[in-house]
Amino acid sequence: MAVVQQDLIHRTTREVTKMKAAVIHEFGDFDVLKVEEVPTPEPQAGEVLIKILATGLNRLEDYIREGSIVPELEWPHILGADAAGEVAALGDDVTGFAIGERVIPQPGFPTDPADYETRPGAATASFNLPGLHRPGTYAQYISVPARFVAKDTTGLSPEQAATLPMALATGVRAVRGVGEVKAGDKVLVHSGASGSGSMQIQVAKALGADVATTVRSSEKAEFAKSIGADLVINTREEDFVAKVKEWSGGQGVDVVIDNLGGDVLPKSIEAVKPLGVVVVFGFTAGPETTFDVRSLFFEQKKLRGTMASDIEDLEWGLEQVKAGRIKPLLDKVLPLSGAGAAHKLLSESKVKGNIVLQPWAA
Ligand SMILES: NC(=O)c1ccc[n+]([C@@H]2O[C@H](COP(=O)([O-])OP(=O)(O)OC[C@H]3O[C@@H](n4cnc5c(N)ncnc54)[C@H](OP(=O)(O)O)[C@@H]3O)[C@@H](O)[C@H]2O)c1
Repeated sequence: MAVVQQDLIHRTTREVTKMKAAVIHEFGDFDVLKVEEVPTPEPQAGEVLIKILATGLNRLEDYIREGSIVPELEWPHILGADAAGEVAALGDDVTGFAIGERVIPQPGFPTDPADYETRPGAATASFNLPGLHRPGTYAQYISVPARFVAKDTTGLSPEQAATLPMALATGVRAVRGVGEVKAGDKVLVHSGASGSGSMQIQVAKALGADVATTVRSSEKAEFAKSIGADLVINTREEDFVAKVKEWSGGQGVDVVIDNLGGDVLPKSIEAVKPLGVVVVFGFTAGPETTFDVRSLFFEQKKLRGTMASDIEDLEWGLEQVKAGRIKPLLDKVLPLSGAGAAHKLLSESKVKGNIVLQPWAA
């Protein structure tokens, strides 16, 4: 028998309880996001039902909503991978969690128990990202396998904690795991005021690296400086390749975390030193590019992709947060009904750090 939080609405075999969620019934502009009542998920064996206290947003959801990631979804669809909440109910066979305990679900995980311990989990056939392959976090509840629920002992408010999961855990994987950044390295992180970039800077600093970053406005330059970037380059005014070469004594940096792609990626390859690593993380500046292959092999540079993260990345990141080495960057809080407005801000690059929705706010 599942253990259920007292205030969670009673179920009978005939009654399906409802929750509020921001759903989409079709791809399209910001106004396709609508708050509706949908069935509350029921925790299956091995799952934890989480009452979501705050939902974090990511650029990815803007792409999914407009229809540029997958050609179809099951409608209505609930977007969102990030949440902070508390345990509302436990499915059969779940131990080690208490009702009401603060938790953070891992943003993306294998769903076949046979794949639970495979790393990276995102390379398994059963990998699921909430908000893409299964119902997401723009809702009042989500049910997640207990193996992929992290305990939240950071002491942060739910709104602050909800800014973290995807940006933090993917940042840990990109910088620490794939980029193998170590103390003393010189690292270039693009778009240092973005949700992902701002976390990647902090992860690199927590590892003891010196960090340069790019932005496109003086306001974002101030922000990037305030979170610890050692060198901030406004690419509307300066060439980042020349600046990081000068900063690194002419050689180039050890690692570039490239979350922009497009025309920026060839320049990132130029900016890294011989034998250095360019980590391909995103494509905000475009999904396609061309470059001279000789720029890689003459100097034995490495081009590595990274996607998603594992629960160990999230847990390592949360330890850094608890120790005060990484800070959540909460820009705005809106009610669930503000999901469309939040997507507009994201798509216009008007967010510094992260934007959060409150599923229980009126
Ligand atoms: N690999 C993974 O696991 C993973 C995980 C999460 C996200 N991502 C990807 O990472 C990318 C960033 O995501 P995010 O959530 O951090 O996005 P975000 O918070 O919306 O930030 C994107 C930033 O990119 C900059 N930008 C936008 N268009 C640009 C252009 N044409 N040229 C240069 N800079 C531009 C803007 O900063 P400025 O105005 O300061 O330039 C903007 O704030 C996305 O492509 C996303 O899909 C990948």
